[in-house]
Amino acid sequence: MALRDLLNRAKELAKHISEVDEALVVTHIDADGITAGAIALQALERAGFESDIVFVKQLDEENIEKIADHGSFVWFTDLGSGQLDLIKKHGIHSQCAISDHHVPLENFQFQLNPHDFGFDGSTELSGATTTYLIARYIGFVGTNLDLSALSVVGAVGDLQDSRTGRLEGLNRFILKEAVSCKALTVERDLRFFGKQTRPVYKMLEYTFDPYLPGISGNEKGAIELLTSLGIDLKENGTWRHWIHLSREEKKLVISEIIKVLVGNGASVRTIERIVGETYILLNEEEGTELRDAMEFSTLLNATARYGYEEIGLKVCMGDRGDALKEATMLLRNHRRNLSDGLKLVDEIGMNELENIQYFHAGNMILDTIVGIVAGMSFSKANLNKPIIAFAENEDGIKVSARATQRLVEKGVHLAEALRIAAEKVGGKGGGHSIAAGATIPKGSEDAFLKELDGIIGAQLRN
Ligand code: C5P
Ligand code: C5P
Ligand code: ZN
Repeated sequence: MALRDLLNRAKELAKHISEVDEALVVTHIDADGITAGAIALQALERAGFESDIVFVKQLDEENIEKIADHGSFVWFTDLGSGQLDLIKKHGIHSQCAISDHHVPLENFQFQLNPHDFGFDGSTELSGATTTYLIARYIGFVGTNLDLSALSVVGAVGDLQDSRTGRLEGLNRFILKEAVSCKALTVERDLRFFGKQTRPVYKMLEYTFDPYLPGISGNEKGAIELLTSLGIDLKENGTWRHWIHLSREEKKLVISEIIKVLVGNGASVRTIERIVGETYILLNEEEGTELRDAMEFSTLLNATARYGYEEIGLKVCMGDRGDALKEATMLLRNHRRNLSDGLKLVDEIGMNELENIQYFHAGNMILDTIVGIVAGMSFSKANLNKPIIAFAENEDGIKVSARATQRLVEKGVHLAEALRIAAEKVGGKGGGHSIAAGATIPKGSEDAFLKELDGIIGAQLRN
C-alpha cells in the first residue's frame, strides 16, 4: 500500500515536472547528491527540456534566495525536505519538485520522500534512488531504466548497505530494475574496498574496518597472508587484483581472514559483515573504478571533497574521456592526501582521555577529509575508544569522529554525542552512530572534549 502511494506520488511529480519547459536542478555535494543530480538532469535532457544544475553544501537563506532569483522551475535532489520552510518563504514551493531522503519538515504535495510513506530514509531509499523513482516516469516508458544503476551508486555512496551488507527495502526494488535491464549484477563477495583496482595485498593492507590484526596497515603481513596460502601476488609480471583470483583462492583468503578475526575475539556480526553483496556495473570496463558501485562512489567523493563535483557529474553523465581522467587524478591525489594525513597523525600523536582519543590537525589536513583520516587511524590507535579529530576551516573548527562497529554495538552513538557536546560550546553537529561531525568555535576544543568524554562514557555504561 505504502509502496503504491509512493509510486503514485512519483508519477504525479514526473507529470508536474513534465509540464515545465525549463528546469534548474539543485543538488547536494556528495556521491549520493551528484548521482541524484545526474539522474534528474539526464531525465530532463532526454525528454528535451532546457536544464541546468547547481551544487550546494547545504540549502540556506543565501543560496535559496539566489535560486529563487533564477526564476525557473526547481528540482531539488538529495536535499530540500528539511528546508521546506525556506522554500516556501521564498515562494518557490509551487514551482518546484523535491526528491529527498532526509527527515522532512512535513508531508508536501510536490515532495517525494520515503519518510512520508513509512520508509526509512537512511537504509531504504537514498537521494539518488528517490530521484530515480521520479525519473523512471519521465519521457517514454523505459527510457530511463538504465539510470537505476547510477542510483545504486548513490545509495552505496550513502552507505545504505553498510549495516546489513546489502541494500534493503525500496532500494532492492530499484536494484531489481537495474538487474533486469542488464545494467548491473549482484555478486556475493568480500565487501572490502579496492577489489577492482588494487593489488590484493594493498586491498588487505588498507582494510581497517574490521581491523585485521597483523594485516591492516601492515604491508608485510598482508603479503605473508597471501603467500602462506600459496597465492601468487603477480601474474605475467602485473599485480593481481581481487577480481583476478579464482573462486578457490577467494575462499582460501576469506577463511583465513575469518580465522584471524575469530582469533582476535571479533563478534559474530563483525565476521558476518565481511561478506555481502557487491554491485557490478556491467556497462563499465572491468578493473576500473566505475565497475564497482563502492569504488565508483569513492571516485565521486574524491571529486566533491576537493570542490570538483562538476567533474564527478560529467562522469555520471557518461564522459569517459577527460572528465574520467581528471576524476582518476583527483582520486590519486585524494589517496596521497590520506596517506600524508596518516603520517601527520603519527607525528603529532594521538591523545587519550578516559573514553575517547583525539588529535588536532590544525590547518595540516583538509576539513573535508579529516574524518576519513580519523577512521584510518584506527590502524595504530586504541580500538576501544572513538577517535575525534579537529581541523581548522573557514567557520571555525571542524570536528570529525569515528567509532568501530564494535563500539557502536556497545552503545556508542557519535551523532548524538557530538550534537550535544557541540551545542554545549555553541556549535552544531550530527551524522551517524559510527561516524559524525560538528563545527565548533575556535578555542572551544578543550571544553568540547571534556563534555564529549563524559557523554561517551555514559553511553558505554548504559
Ligand atoms: O565530515 P565527516 O566525514 O566527518 O562527516 C561525518 C558525518 O557527520 C556525515 O554524515 C556528515 O553529514 C555529518 N556531519 C554533520 N554536521 C557537521 C559535520 C558532519 O552532521 N557539522
Ligand atoms: O555525509 P556523511 O553521511 O556523508 O558521511 C559519510 C562518512 O561517514 C564516510 O566518509 C565514512 O567515512 C563515514 N562512515 C563510515 N562507516 C559507516 C558510515 C559512515 O565510516 N558505516
Ligand atoms: Zn543523500
